[in-house]
Amino acid sequence: MCGIFGLITKKKDVPVAKLIREGLQRLEYRGYDSAGIALVHDGKIECRKDSGRIADINKDGWFDSMEGSFGVGHTRWATHGPPVAKNSHPHLDCKEKIAVVHNGILENFQQLRKELSERGHEFKSDTDTEVFPHLIEEYIEKGMDLKKAVIETVKQCKGAYGIVVCHADTPDYMLVARKESPLTIGITPGETTYCASDIPAFLPLTKTAYILDDDEIAVLYPGQVEIFDIETNQKRHRDPMTVQWSMDAAAKTLDGKEYKWFMHKELHEVPRKIREQFKMPQSDIDAFAKTIMDADQVFITAAGTAYYACLAGKFQITRFGGPYIQSILCSEFKDHLPEIPPNSVVMAVSQSGETADTIEAVRYARENYGAKVCSVVNVVGSSLTRYSDHVIITTAGPEIAVASQKAYCCQVSALSMVALRIAELKGEMEKDEVKKYHEALIETGNVCDEILKKEDNIKSIAKAVSEKTNFYYLARGASMAAALEGALKIKEINPKAHAEGYAAGESKHGPIALIRDGFPVVFVAPPDETYDRLIGNVMEMKARGGLIISVVADFDEKISELSDYTIEVPIKNNKYAITMSAVPFAYTLQILAYHAAEINGFDVDKPTNLAKSVTVK
Ligand code: AGP
Repeated sequence: MCGIFGLITKKKDVPVAKLIREGLQRLEYRGYDSAGIALVHDGKIECRKDSGRIADINKDGWFDSMEGSFGVGHTRWATHGPPVAKNSHPHLDCKEKIAVVHNGILENFQQLRKELSERGHEFKSDTDTEVFPHLIEEYIEKGMDLKKAVIETVKQCKGAYGIVVCHADTPDYMLVARKESPLTIGITPGETTYCASDIPAFLPLTKTAYILDDDEIAVLYPGQVEIFDIETNQKRHRDPMTVQWSMDAAAKTLDGKEYKWFMHKELHEVPRKIREQFKMPQSDIDAFAKTIMDADQVFITAAGTAYYACLAGKFQITRFGGPYIQSILCSEFKDHLPEIPPNSVVMAVSQSGETADTIEAVRYARENYGAKVCSVVNVVGSSLTRYSDHVIITTAGPEIAVASQKAYCCQVSALSMVALRIAELKGEMEKDEVKKYHEALIETGNVCDEILKKEDNIKSIAKAVSEKTNFYYLARGASMAAALEGALKIKEINPKAHAEGYAAGESKHGPIALIRDGFPVVFVAPPDETYDRLIGNVMEMKARGGLIISVVADFDEKISELSDYTIEVPIKNNKYAITMSAVPFAYTLQILAYHAAEINGFDVDKPTNLAKSVTVK
């Protein structure tokens, strides 16, 4: 939510403005309603900002033509005030010497703004952010240096922030500080330092990074970084880390092919990403399995797509002998659980590791009730990893498209590995049986490769239903997660249509009232223990004129015969492959949603009103 990218360098002839603009564009998935850049040049701040997409704002090189030796940019997802030029970041102080960009929400900004206005400060925007430059200005007027002034400022501010501060009179450095909003630092030692909300922003420039912790401030010199504790102003030693993601992960190219959309490229990465997931350290799987088995109560929590991965994962864990796991949306977690029993475990799943509600849920359980936290996270060093006892890192790599897909496939794959390890440790299932399930799970990458070979068929079905404005996605049991995920994908990226994921058995208790001739109903129909009952639901919908689109195994006969359109998932005809087919079934629906959105001409990667990491509660 909001993207920040800044840069300070001692290298001569560097197109600073252009590099910042490009870095911001790599972060546009975090927010894309307005953008701005401030550069320090000859003792002055030059600031340009406007509403709209960065490419449009920069059409005539408006950003790129800015001059300056260092500075910062911001791409916004509006919270306080509509997306218009005056509310775009950076924001400046009264004397226009200080520029600040911010990601997060200040809870006490109204009070601070009132006090600052009474003391004569003039506000130009509706934002909470604008209190930062004015407060810093005051502290500097009281004689503090920039770092001390920023420290005193953030101590006044309640809420979440990741900020970058540039001052026209301090050309040697800029400052970053964070609390509950992500900020990472990239460095080319001795030459250039970058700061960004997410690592992909500087990935094409460097793989050497520092992750800032909560309540830390860092002074960024060209090619050098100093980190301090905000409370004590004590310097903190931190070794840089090497980012494992490949440099071209932030580009739309895969195997030499240029994709139009990140989502399409990322969908094509799924088979290899799943294979990498299965190579995750055995020690991580063991830690999860043992912690879950030792707990008296287990909860699982997340938001959006990650929550549906939770549903798929918990089903597998329970099916393979693990405890019943209570799933709760992270935004509902505290309200549903006014108390958490002793010896509980909270499992959390997140692509970004920065979703505010997920972090709030695990912190609530851990800090108030001593719950252990096991999290499945895609971003190394993200906030969630720091509130966790055990972490499984997913191998999806940077997921740039706002609509999550490869992260989901890796999350479910990882949780399925945990489920099988629980079966092994419990010893109630024959070792040979567990081995066969394991072999079937490992096949997932190959199955997804085969699905991609049928992409044209999926695309033709997407075309056939592209004019539809309502969909039901129905399933039973383990496939509920896929149905919910398939419907969410349609809602996110094909906003022409409303889609609802529903339990098939529940559909006759209300949803069926909407069925008319040609109303599309997507059935997720693997040949598992729910299959025969699902046929009844297909018949009910068909009898009322529903247009039946079924996702079935490629050896299916009954449901495909009843369907208007069929997507075949190429799995083996045995119980091992069927039980381990959660990812392939969901994957076909992600591909279907992608093509529906692409055919309808939507911005697939940056859907209206959405941001990839929801870092506000
Ligand atoms: C998924 O397509 C969405 N972008 C959204 O539902 C997302 O899954 C959710 O916001 C959780 O994000 P996280 O995985 O980064 O925690």
